[in-house]
Amino acid sequence: MNILDVIINRRSIRRYTGEPVSSETLNELLRAGMYAPSAVNKQPWHFIVVQKKEILLNMSKVHPYASMLPSAAAAIVVCGDENLANTPAYWPVDCAAATQNILLAAHGLGLGGVWLGVYPRSERISALEKLIELPPHIHPFSIVSLGYPAEKRTVPERFKPERIHYDHW
Ligand SMILES: Cc1cc2nc3c(=O)[nH]c(=O)nc-3n(C[C@H](O)[C@H](O)[C@H](O)COP(=O)(O)O)c2cc1C
Repeated sequence: MNILDVIINRRSIRRYTGEPVSSETLNELLRAGMYAPSAVNKQPWHFIVVQKKEILLNMSKVHPYASMLPSAAAAIVVCGDENLANTPAYWPVDCAAATQNILLAAHGLGLGGVWLGVYPRSERISALEKLIELPPHIHPFSIVSLGYPAEKRTVPERFKPERIHYDHW
């Protein structure tokens, strides 16, 4: 798959076959996350790999749009470290880049995934902080739900020439 195929054909996948994802493959996804750009190259992220069914289920209970998690092979909670970030404003931006890198790598490796938004929803943040026992300087940004796809999604046309402006509005 070339890079544009990966970017354009990636879709949010919320149904999974149940086949496990190997630790080698998970490490490739984490490596992709860690190669994301970050402000002043601070790389202010941590990744919590969740594979225990009980924790996946409990995460689905504290997030209103995460009902796929109990059937996922794994989830990666992308977290920002406020002590490592360039300024407090930047860790969410950096974590967004890492999240997208993980999703693209997952698609490129034949997996399906979906970005589950956590930051900036305070109720999801505090529930997750308790559930996965995060220290005070670590903040959950997103959950990436992962598994081998059990659904096929079509590729919509999203190119909108009217959203493009040259040189000035
Ligand atoms: C910040 C953000 C938060 C999202 N939160 C959720 C979510 O909580 N649950 C979910 O099923 N999908 C979530 N999504 C996935 C979007 O619904 C999905 O990306 C969008 O519908 C476009 O579809 P596509 O990913 O297949 O291109 C989120 C995506 C982003 C970028």
